[in-house]
Amino acid sequence: MNLRILPSKEHLARAAAEHFVQASHNAVAQKGSFTVALSGGSTPKAMYELLADQFRDQIPWPNIHFYWSDERHVPPDHPDSNYRLANEAMLSRVPVTPSNVHRVFSENPAADAARDYEDTIKKQIGANPRLDLILLGVGTDGHTASIFPGSEVLNETEHLVAAPWVAKLNTYRITMTLPLLNNGASVVFLVSGADKAEIVKEVLEGPQKYPAQMVKPTNGELIWMLDQAAAKELRRSL
Ligand code: 6PG
Repeated sequence: MNLRILPSKEHLARAAAEHFVQASHNAVAQKGSFTVALSGGSTPKAMYELLADQFRDQIPWPNIHFYWSDERHVPPDHPDSNYRLANEAMLSRVPVTPSNVHRVFSENPAADAARDYEDTIKKQIGANPRLDLILLGVGTDGHTASIFPGSEVLNETEHLVAAPWVAKLNTYRITMTLPLLNNGASVVFLVSGADKAEIVKEVLEGPQKYPAQMVKPTNGELIWMLDQAAAKELRRSL
């Protein structure tokens, strides 16, 4: 596991954007396309905006296939939608190929949305899909994507996408599962802010007990990118 600690939230967003650019160039040079699963929540917004602004001309937008590592069970125009966040911050502002933007049909019943999403991923990438880049965050309870502590999704070994009921949020979510996440070529956690310092310490230095600790690519790189505030409880921080 690679650990990168950046001085600030802004440096974190820039480092993540640079990684995205490099990964896109490598993938397109190798196979003419780049597949990426965008993460939800608020952390990645600054990176999305950088990609659409300062890095815009360095990115092979038409060759990129966009997926989401998870999605809320809301319509795509809902304030909580991870698709809406990425679309407003980035996708609507750059020359993507519209048919390459594979959002979750989260306006449908959750189980249908999960099944359809899995079908799309398999149709687009193959039966044992290996995404070039998967972006993830971590919640203060140690969840990642929408795999929450105690969730039955933790034991999923067959399906690539699931629709768990998240009791603490009183809602369904649609999420990539560990078999898909752990097949990624490059899996990057982006974590920012002092409120994440405790969980970062527990996840990176404590015993195995959180969903985020189950993300261990079987044949890919795992990178944790933190800003100084999120890293401040680590024994190894700067
Ligand atoms: C989601 C996410 C989730 C997120 C973490 C961190 O849909 O909420 O995918 O796993 O990455 O909760 O969220 P923040 O970046 O908002 O702290």
